[in-house]
Amino acid sequence: MEVVIVPDAQAGGEVIAEAMVALLRRKPDALLGVATGSTPLPVYQALTAKVGAGAVDAGRARICQLDEYVGLPAGHPESYRSVVLREVVEPLGLDQASFMGPNGSADDIPAACVAYDRALTEAGGVDLQLLGIGTDGHIGFNEPCSSLASRTRIKTLTEQTRIDNARFFDGDIDQVPHHVITQGIGTILEARHVVLLATGEGKAEAVAQTVEGPVSALVPASALQLHPHATVVVDEAAAAKLKLADYFRATFAAKPEWQGL
Ligand code: GLP
Repeated sequence: MEVVIVPDAQAGGEVIAEAMVALLRRKPDALLGVATGSTPLPVYQALTAKVGAGAVDAGRARICQLDEYVGLPAGHPESYRSVVLREVVEPLGLDQASFMGPNGSADDIPAACVAYDRALTEAGGVDLQLLGIGTDGHIGFNEPCSSLASRTRIKTLTEQTRIDNARFFDGDIDQVPHHVITQGIGTILEARHVVLLATGEGKAEAVAQTVEGPVSALVPASALQLHPHATVVVDEAAAAKLKLADYFRATFAAKPEWQGL
């Protein structure tokens, strides 16, 4: 796994957006897997700016969701579908036909999970999957002890994740759903390139365990160690507990530019 230490969140957004631009130049209809939460927002802002400045034509890009709450009413502003439409699809000027996600209000949730997992494969697979990380090391909504081979399925959120996400629901934990649909860890690992962005000191412990700890279901993000092309982009605060930080800095500084991320 490659670790890229950047000065701040904005620089993280730049470096990842640049990788997305390079991908879209190579493959104009690339399928970009996007994450929600606060962390990826600088990526979407940087990508929108680059596309607006003509760096690449994103008109054929396709976007897919990582996860979704179960049971929020259609059109709820904090459903991940609404968030991705607002933060990614609309700013890039894409239409809804280029966007796919799991149906969190389906009558048959298990069937909706299987259908979404299959739809990703039938779409040719995810070319670049962007991830954030939970304070407990979760990716998507794969909470600790998720199977490392898991597929898209329903999960129950931990109390900590519901506390962390209450800020999107007027600070009221009672409004945060207990259940979610998430791409499984096995599903995520099928993306051709996985890029995890973590910023802020609150993520430092999870990042250290992800990168330098053992592969363990207790830290779901550590499964990225098994991926042949995983990139972890961290700001200085999130890198604070990495023992090999100097090595990671030297490696990236010496990296030939043509390689990209
Ligand atoms: C939620 C999302 C994750 C995200 C995490 C961290 O749990 N399902 O995909 O990584 O929040 O969010 P933030 O970036 O706001 O810390």
